[in-house]
Amino acid sequence: MTGSAPGASPTGAVRGLWVTFEGGDGAGKTTQAQLLQSWLENEGCRVVRTREPGGTEVGVLIRNIVLHHRGDVAPRAEALLYAADRAHHVAHVVMPALAAGDVVVQDRYLDSSVAYQGAGRVLDADEVRDLSLWATEGALPDVTVLLDLDPQRARERLDADDKPFDRLEAEKAEFHARVRAAFLALAAAEPDRFLVLDATLPIDELAAAVRARVAPLLPASGVGTPA
Ligand code: TYD
Repeated sequence: MTGSAPGASPTGAVRGLWVTFEGGDGAGKTTQAQLLQSWLENEGCRVVRTREPGGTEVGVLIRNIVLHHRGDVAPRAEALLYAADRAHHVAHVVMPALAAGDVVVQDRYLDSSVAYQGAGRVLDADEVRDLSLWATEGALPDVTVLLDLDPQRARERLDADDKPFDRLEAEKAEFHARVRAAFLALAAAEPDRFLVLDATLPIDELAAAVRARVAPLLPASGVGTPA
């Protein structure tokens, strides 16, 4: 978040609510984000559903490089590309939505960079995080849901999907084990922002836990509701 409680900016203006989903590939982030979106809309909230990388037109171009370029991308270049996607996305999608009082439901944010480019590619985690904080002028979500899953189980789910692997998914088991450990460490360091869930639980149970965390943050002041 930008430092203020959901619903009010430091100037007292309306501010929406920002929820991000994190976790390894195959953990079920997209399913849970969709379920949260549907529930919020049923509650009468205006929802902006988005993702990184690729939440803007510029971001779609960057996504194509980071996920589908054939051949090597230097780890620092990869980190900068994700940060560039993020800078543009936050400036053009997230902040305007929050300023309008909407609820932003987002697949992945800077925690993915710390986990994948930091622990996965073995760049310095603090430097990777600082790069994204610079890119976004320090913006952090109100709630980050971490769907934690053993990489072996995740791989079985991805195999069952029958889609070709992207550059990151194709990485070796040790890479994904480091990514998982990094996500858990991030969650332990910021327990107020993170909700950690066991991604092997039934979909409905996970959705209920997410709703229970988000519901109290939809203040009576009308965050995310039509004006
Ligand atoms: P995602 O959109 O979840 O993958 P998919 O379209 O296959 O469901 O994420 C794309 C990949 O990008 C994923 O493997 C994680 C990786 N990633 C990073 O390495 N760093 C980042 O900062 C972000 C946002 C994603």
